[in-house]
Amino acid sequence: MEESAERQAGLTLDFLGDLRRTHNCGQLRAADTGARVLLMGWVHRRHDLGGVIFIHLRDREGITQAVFHEDVDPAIHQKAELLRSEYVVAMEGVVEKRTPETVNPNVETGEIEIVAEKLWILNVSKVPPFPLDDAVNVSEDARLKYRYVDLRRPKMQRNIILRSRISFAAREFLHSQGFLEIETPFMTRSTPEGARDYLVPCRVQPGSFYALPQSPQIFKQLLMVSGFEKYFQIVRCFRDEDLRADRQPEFTQIDLEMSFPQQDRVLEVVEPLVGRICAQAGFEIPTPFPRLTYAQAMRSYGSDKPDMRIPPFHCVEDLFAGSGLTTEGLPLVAIHIPGTGALSRKERDDLKPFGQERGLRIYDDVKRLDRDFPEAMAKLRQRVGLGEDDLLLVAGWLSAPAGHRPEETVLQACGQLRLHAAQKYNDRHKLLDPRCFRFLWVVDFPMFEWDEEEARWMAAHHPFTSVHDDDIEKLTADPARCRAKSYDLVLNGVELGSGSIRIHRQDVQSKVFAALGFSEEEARRRFGFLLEALEYGAPPHGGIALGLDRLVMILAGETSIRDVIPFPKTARGTDLMCDAPSPVPERQLKELGIRVTGGAK
Ligand code: AMO
Repeated sequence: MEESAERQAGLTLDFLGDLRRTHNCGQLRAADTGARVLLMGWVHRRHDLGGVIFIHLRDREGITQAVFHEDVDPAIHQKAELLRSEYVVAMEGVVEKRTPETVNPNVETGEIEIVAEKLWILNVSKVPPFPLDDAVNVSEDARLKYRYVDLRRPKMQRNIILRSRISFAAREFLHSQGFLEIETPFMTRSTPEGARDYLVPCRVQPGSFYALPQSPQIFKQLLMVSGFEKYFQIVRCFRDEDLRADRQPEFTQIDLEMSFPQQDRVLEVVEPLVGRICAQAGFEIPTPFPRLTYAQAMRSYGSDKPDMRIPPFHCVEDLFAGSGLTTEGLPLVAIHIPGTGALSRKERDDLKPFGQERGLRIYDDVKRLDRDFPEAMAKLRQRVGLGEDDLLLVAGWLSAPAGHRPEETVLQACGQLRLHAAQKYNDRHKLLDPRCFRFLWVVDFPMFEWDEEEARWMAAHHPFTSVHDDDIEKLTADPARCRAKSYDLVLNGVELGSGSIRIHRQDVQSKVFAALGFSEEEARRRFGFLLEALEYGAPPHGGIALGLDRLVMILAGETSIRDVIPFPKTARGTDLMCDAPSPVPERQLKELGIRVTGGAK
């Protein structure tokens, strides 16, 4: 049998008994000098200077230094010699002010230390799999396998504490605005948010499955039909989709829905909500947030989630008509980033293939453009306000792009080029300051997107979204140009939230299902209960869902939502700590009436 860690360490553990903390490890200041205190926590670090041992004691609130003097109390000094990283201890002693030269200005408790008089060792620890200092670079696989240790790192503690405070602030604000917190089922039917479902087999009905909700969309609409008027939920959603730094298979939304709102009413609730949330991270943000229509966002940024920290680009095809720089009828885009200086030769060479891969032709030789198109360039300089030290790239498209909205394809490619160029400069010019929060509403999205694979129109948001009042005629006549009453909240190039005014009339909902290519029978089979509910006095309603993980990620200054989720999955969707997903015993499958035919890939 393996020897216990306690025996290995050659010590006897103490009991907690009725010991009680008097303070936490982030609390004591010079004003507490002379106080007798009892602290508990983990041994963050131990410095043994022979006759004196220093312990950095850590709990979730901070770190306090304790000192054990051999000449004052040899017995306790001897016990402190046994301490190792991550041992769990309680200690009692007297707060002493440090001498000026030993004050540590980097720690909030750095003015004091505890002269320890009693020490209880409550538990031992194996040598941690990696150091717990934030500065140390640890592989993400190791961090996720030993997540309970990783979460002890001060940075991770801060992130998870911030997340908790943000959830609480959101709850408090929404309650104060008359929203009711109502739960919706996790074991349900498929909801159409565009990803694949996670299915849950049903033992008592072999061959039938629940789907985990991709969002509570249909249920929150039903709650409006039920007359609750204002609903919210901080709710887990499940989507089987390709994972990225800002996507997890299970993630959390701050989800809300209101009866009788115009779009503006929804946005008016969200702005102060987001303001409260940002205040939790110590940031004051100006409201109201600026708004762009989808069409404007595309013409100025080539993206429906523009990063407003970088200046917009300019469509200049009107100035270069007949120049051959772009295909007739398609945009020619001038990307202008002030104050960055020209690109080096290497950087320019690097941008060209990036553009080419996306179908763009890049003109980066300004002198040559000046020579070949003097008049157009003079006007361009004036339009964009080109300075001496600015970057200018002109990008056009030389073949006809496929798709129903070719102009968009070109603009999107230019948008990616704009971001890529800005990222290149970021090291030198800090264009993308993570502490600069540029919120934006993008409104009037297209109603439909063309799905190449299925060769049909799909709902750009979801099929319950209202058509723009002016575009009802276009529903079937010109779906490519039909706008929806939908809106996204965008922050620094990240889609933080998405919502819409819903269809509340059964006849309109049926028409939209038809425009989406659902037969009446299919619509009834998939969403019959919703169509039926709309026949029982459904009020006009609308709402939004904000991605909590993404919001916390940006406010915490992180670049992956994995760093603000306590137990996330890897980029391949696995939980390395508890080894999920994993095969199950044959007996369990049999009970569920399931036979696995494909082998593990
Ligand atoms: P949507 O699908 O746009 O809308 O989702 C809303 C917000 O949820 C976040 N989000 C994610 N976060 C992490 N990982 C994911 N895989 C993930 N997928 C989405 C994003 C996104 O903006 N029912 C509608 C909302 C509504 O219409 O009210 C919905 O779910 O921040």
